Amino acid sequence: MKLELVQGDITKVAADAIVNAANSSLLGGGGVDGAIHRAAGPELLAECRTLHAQGGCPPGQARLTKGYRLPARYVIHTVGPVWRGGNQAEEAVLARCYKSAFALVEANGLRSVAFPSISTGAYGFPIDRAAPIALREIQAALARLPQLEKVTVVLFSPGDLEMYQRALARVSGPDQGGNV
Ligand code: APR
Repeated sequence: MKLELVQGDITKVAADAIVNAANSSLLGGGGVDGAIHRAAGPELLAECRTLHAQGGCPPGQARLTKGYRLPARYVIHTVGPVWRGGNQAEEAVLARCYKSAFALVEANGLRSVAFPSISTGAYGFPIDRAAPIALREIQAALARLPQLEKVTVVLFSPGDLEMYQRALARVSGPDQGGNV
């Protein structure tokens, strides 16, 4: 069960790292970004301010901070693409968010990581197109990184969970329910 799809609140997940769907300033926002900052406490914003001073985080890239009051040790902040109709390389940028997050997982020897559904909220990326991109990148990382023991995708609503479960069945063969 190295890949798990669950419905819930990512701020409650005690993985080595949870991934934040941030914006380029890294200074917080709404959605999962707001939830993570609220749960982590003010020290997270203080650390993010230092990253902001160094230029923040361009779309498709990722930055690592501590998790502070979160159960997760680290937060990997990544910036997804804003959906602009699908002809502005949004799908490539979204794939790069997952690749960049896994590069930090590998570099820091992390064994477990949890993702939200990046870009499918305020950034408007259609979730039926985002889910297969996310799942393909996660499966590639699980095949490539022997130290990686568990990847969890934490969906906020039942509908989003069902969308990911359907996408997983398509990308990995019909008999893979919600967990593999
Ligand atoms: N746990 C897990 N998932 C969550 C949580 C939570 N606590 N809160 C929201 N989500 C889900 C949303 O339902 C959505 O499916 O995270 C997904 C991503 O939505 P957003 O948080 O809106 O992120 P995104 O679409 O990438 O937009 C990023 O929004 O919050 C701002 O600062 C952020 O400007 C950035 C933009």
